[in-house]
This record gives sequence, C-alpha cells and structure tokens, in this order.
Amino acid sequence: MSLQMSTARTIARRVAANVATNGDSPAAPFAHDFDFFGGAEQLIDYPGTEVIIAGPYETGKTIAALHKLHTLLWTTKNARGLMVRKTYKSLLPSAVVTYEHKVLPIPPGHPDCPVMVFGGSRPDWYDYPNGARLVLGGMDNADKFLSAEFDFIYVNQAEEIDVDDWEKLTGRATGRAGNTEHPQIIGDCNPSHPYHWILEREPPFQQFCRSGGTSWPFRVPLPPSGTGHPRPRKTRRARRCCA
Ligand SMILES: Nc1ncnc2c1ncn2[C@@H]1O[C@H](COP(=O)(O)OP(=O)(O)OP(=O)(O)O)[C@@H](O)[C@H]1O
Ligand SMILES: [Mg+2]
Repeated sequence: MSLQMSTARTIARRVAANVATNGDSPAAPFAHDFDFFGGAEQLIDYPGTEVIIAGPYETGKTIAALHKLHTLLWTTKNARGLMVRKTYKSLLPSAVVTYEHKVLPIPPGHPDCPVMVFGGSRPDWYDYPNGARLVLGGMDNADKFLSAEFDFIYVNQAEEIDVDDWEKLTGRATGRAGNTEHPQIIGDCNPSHPYHWILEREPPFQQFCRSGGTSWPFRVPLPPSGTGHPRPRKTRRARRCCA
C-alpha cells in the first residue's frame, strides 16, 4: 500500500487546503473511512478547474469523486453542486446509490442524516446544513438545470457524453455561481476507444488521473472463479488506456 495514501478523515482538510474557500469548516462526515491513494488521491488533491479519473471497473473512481464532491459541498457555504450523467435514469441506480449509501454518513431520509433529500425515491436535490445544495440531473433533460450556475459539477461516466455536453457543463461552473474561488468539474469514466475526446483533452486542459495500470489506487479483490459472483470485466479498451 502506498505511503501516500490518505484516509477519508484527512480528505476534508486536504480539499479545504487546496480548493475550498472556508477551510475552517468542520470535517465532512462519511459513511466509511476509506483509504485513497494513486489516481484517487490525485483526483482529490487537484485544485484546478477540470479533472477526470479514468480506469477499469470497480477501481474506486466514483467513490473518490463523490468523497471530493461531498467534501466541497460540506465546506463551502451556500455552494451549488450538480451530479449528472447522460441520463437521469441511469444516474439513480449508480452514483446516487453510492452517494447515499457509501458516502453520506447516514442515508438521507433518516432523521439523523445531516443532508436532507428532496424528491423521495426520484430525488431532485440534497440540502446541506451550511446552505449548500446538490442538484441531480441527466443530459437527456439538461434544460432543467443548464440555466443555473454551479460551483462544483460531478459527471458520472463522462465517456457517455460528448465533448459538446462536457463544454456546456464547464460553461456552468466558471465561478459565476460565486460561492467559491475554485469552481471544479470532476468526471469519472471507463475509457472508451483511443480517440475518445477525453483522451484528447489531456493536460493542459484538464488533469487526467488513472485508476489503473501500475498505480491502482484501489482494486476490489476478484471473487474466486466458479462461485457464481460476477467478475468485473477487464476490457481490451480499459487495458489500453491504463497501460
Ligand atoms: N478507497 C477504497 N477503499 C475501500 N473500498 C473501496 C474504495 N473505493 C471503492 N471501494 C469499494 O469498491 C466499490 C467500487 O467502487 P466504485 O463504484 O467507486 O468503482 P468504480 O471504479 O467507479 O467502478 P465502475 O467503473 O464500475 O463505475 C465500492 O462500492 C466500494 O465498496
Ligand atoms: Mg463508477
């Protein structure tokens, strides 16, 4: 395990030091005290405006991105956040489940959860105790939220959207929301073909972190073969990107 790993307990301090405007806020509470290292740690520490983490399935990309998003919202008063995927329908069973059950300290809806959910089983947004709000959306219904300005945007499975959509989103997190001096758009993705726009937008346009190859930040152990458990697919495309 890397000596550089950082636990969830230290993330709030590090994110605050790098990008949040009011770093004296109490540390964000989390469901688990995960360790983060490699590409996940780079993603969390990155202070610039665009960052994407790419890598094979089940390597902790979404967990890392959501820990960062949750920390930014927790520590930035009145912040406006957006969690978005190509479709709202696909966001619900994926990143929203991870956010509610593996990132928030208690699932929202429980009276002890400090983050309140609005919209029930098809949530529209979450409110934080400091006035911050996290809106959910899908690019299939982008008119609903693209007239607003955001401080922080998280794009789940960014390889599904095209570069025009990515640029529409970056145009909504330019600093005009006014609650942070460090607006960010964070994406995670499973790599697609080698000419995908994400690969072509490598630095200086954005930081590109890899959750695979020789710097696995985290990898779920494969269940023994023959047990009937699904094994994460490691595709040719994923290997190519993460080599
Ligand atoms: N740093 C970590 N420490 C311990 N467990 C972790 C860590 N990160 C992720 N996990 C576990 O691994 C599972 C998969 O993580 P996650 O959903 O973030 O992977 P992913 O790379 O986004 O996968 P996919 O490509 O399928 O979207 C999580 O549900 C969580 O239980
Ligand atoms: Mg994921």
